[in-house]
Amino acid sequence: MTNSLSPLLPLPSASFGLGLRTEHYLPILADKPAVDWFEILSENYMVPGGKPLAMLDAIRADYPVVMHGVSMSIGTPEGPSPDYLRDLKKLMERISPMWVSDHICWTGVHGKNMHDLFPLPYNEETIKLVVNNVRRVQDVLGRRLVLENVSSYLQYSSDSMPEWEFVAAIAEQADSMILLDVNNIYVSSVNHSFDAMDYLCGIPVGRVQQIHLAGHSDHGTHIIDTHDQPIADPVWALYAQAIRRFGAVPSMIERDDNIPPLAELVAELDQARRVCASACGTMLATATTDLAA
Ligand SMILES: [Fe+2]
Repeated sequence: MTNSLSPLLPLPSASFGLGLRTEHYLPILADKPAVDWFEILSENYMVPGGKPLAMLDAIRADYPVVMHGVSMSIGTPEGPSPDYLRDLKKLMERISPMWVSDHICWTGVHGKNMHDLFPLPYNEETIKLVVNNVRRVQDVLGRRLVLENVSSYLQYSSDSMPEWEFVAAIAEQADSMILLDVNNIYVSSVNHSFDAMDYLCGIPVGRVQQIHLAGHSDHGTHIIDTHDQPIADPVWALYAQAIRRFGAVPSMIERDDNIPPLAELVAELDQARRVCASACGTMLATATTDLAA
């Protein structure tokens, strides 16, 4: 049962990962880049065999991995499919990931997957539904689920609270963890005109297991979460603020289109290390000043 999950442990210290993409399989195996771990798209490997799974096994021999899904549909009224959870657990048992994540969204109904991450109505009724689904998933997997905030381009007339209250309530009530996508917060803050700092301040410290960083496309009137270019300056600034609030939680860069050579992403990951170190220094300096006062 969910209430038998082990107590929350202190979060791991700073580490920096990349999304594992097919274009980089061979360079990773040949060059062993300075990446602390890789995040895999779970559905790409939930199959009985084939080249991707063989490549994952080889890379897993050298690197820790985390599993990140896009098809659980935790917000669907009927809940995640038992077949999906069976295959997810099988992969989890095969590769022993550090954690397993998906998104706070719905991706379809009546067994149809529309392959997109649709936002949910932010209200008490949806919280109850999602919390019940998360508890069921955690019972099946025997571990806490890590759930990510999505970017969005619409709001529902039935919303009764800001997104951050919704995300925090699910984590607290389901005893699950949060994958905080800082780029998604920035994208939605522009699209829906809220203060991204209000979002960060509404998320409970100690529930953030991982941070996502990614690029987006700015169309002036709105921003699309495209993952096809380097991380933008306002997202780096928000990332620094997130580190100051949540500490140096594991962070990674998602790149899903216009994928550059691996070395380019490793260099961008070094920028994440520098921003994180600088933000931690600021956090320490602030704490020291407070003590001296
Ligand atoms: Fe993300």
